[in-house]
Amino acid sequence: MVQQNVVVFGGSGFLGRAIVQRLVKAGNRTVVAARHPRVARCPEATGAIEHRAVDVRDDASVARVLQGADAAVNAVSLYVERRDLRFADIHVDAAEHIARLASQEGVKALVHVSGIGVSTDSASAYVRARAHGEQAVREAFPQATILRPSVLFGPEDAFLANLKTITRLPVIPLFGNGSTRLQPVHVEDAAMAVARALETPLATGQVFELGGANVYRYRELLLAVMEHAGRHRPLLPVPFELWKLLAALMSILPNPPLTHDQVILMQEDNVVGDGANTFKDLGIEPCDLMAMLPRLASSDTAL
Ligand SMILES: NC(=O)c1ccc[n+]([C@@H]2O[C@H](COP(=O)([O-])OP(=O)(O)OC[C@H]3O[C@@H](n4cnc5c(N)ncnc54)[C@H](OP(=O)(O)O)[C@@H]3O)[C@@H](O)[C@H]2O)c1
Repeated sequence: MVQQNVVVFGGSGFLGRAIVQRLVKAGNRTVVAARHPRVARCPEATGAIEHRAVDVRDDASVARVLQGADAAVNAVSLYVERRDLRFADIHVDAAEHIARLASQEGVKALVHVSGIGVSTDSASAYVRARAHGEQAVREAFPQATILRPSVLFGPEDAFLANLKTITRLPVIPLFGNGSTRLQPVHVEDAAMAVARALETPLATGQVFELGGANVYRYRELLLAVMEHAGRHRPLLPVPFELWKLLAALMSILPNPPLTHDQVILMQEDNVVGDGANTFKDLGIEPCDLMAMLPRLASSDTAL
């Protein structure tokens, strides 16, 4: 990869940190742009990482950080809405601003991270916002590469950590009968996809759906996590309508542990679609969650 100046919006997040580390190891100068950016860790290359306090809802700070950049990556997330912060603020409006300002500043490449299963018709406000965000990015920066990962796992992730927490319960409630299909992606593979997208001209203007080596049902993943943790608990199917009722009750809490959108996400398969561009088209062989579990169990994500 030719050395570039790359701005990573959300570079202090779970995926963002892995992207920054990969880009820096490949010899790029990288700017971590986030509201509280000083949490990126890449001890072997600190000189190549700059930290800038940027709120992606503020056009002026976005434009400033993009000045002189060769490339930009949008890995900003918002998983739970608040009254004063809606999905559209981050996933549509801010995504559009980043793309438009990147185009105006002469940034040559943009990678926009979205998610598998985006649809403007979804019952989930989150999924609809992601779909509208992709459209807005495509209009503002037609050459942008859009990456749609399935659920991400890796050291210090939220996914396996949540599964681990659930398996501590005396009885494990399933979303429906636990048959929703997921294709978990190692965070390092997703980060590699971002780096490849920036260096591969064929990725320009394309959408890639990123799924791990294998598809698993939710209940299979719970059983595997239990096995690694040496736990044995009964599984209890719970209808989605009951989960939605629970989420509605929890919605009055300031930080609800479960939201309506999360229930809807668990109702739909989260796997690579037929005919989609995939990791393979970026020359990447993704790893398999089950194969990685023993290693993850002995690292920070102690199962
Ligand atoms: N994790 C997954 O399983 C998964 C699966 C599929 C797709 N994705 C997508 O991958 C991307 C990254 O997700 P993630 O899980 O790595 O997120 P994350 O760990 O929650 O990190 C989010 C990042 O966005 C920054 N951010 C949030 N609001 C911001 C704002 N207003 N201005 C500037 N920066 C802001 C955060 O830093 P500050 O809070 O300091 O601002 C942080 O650096 C998202 O698009 C997400 O939807 C994730």
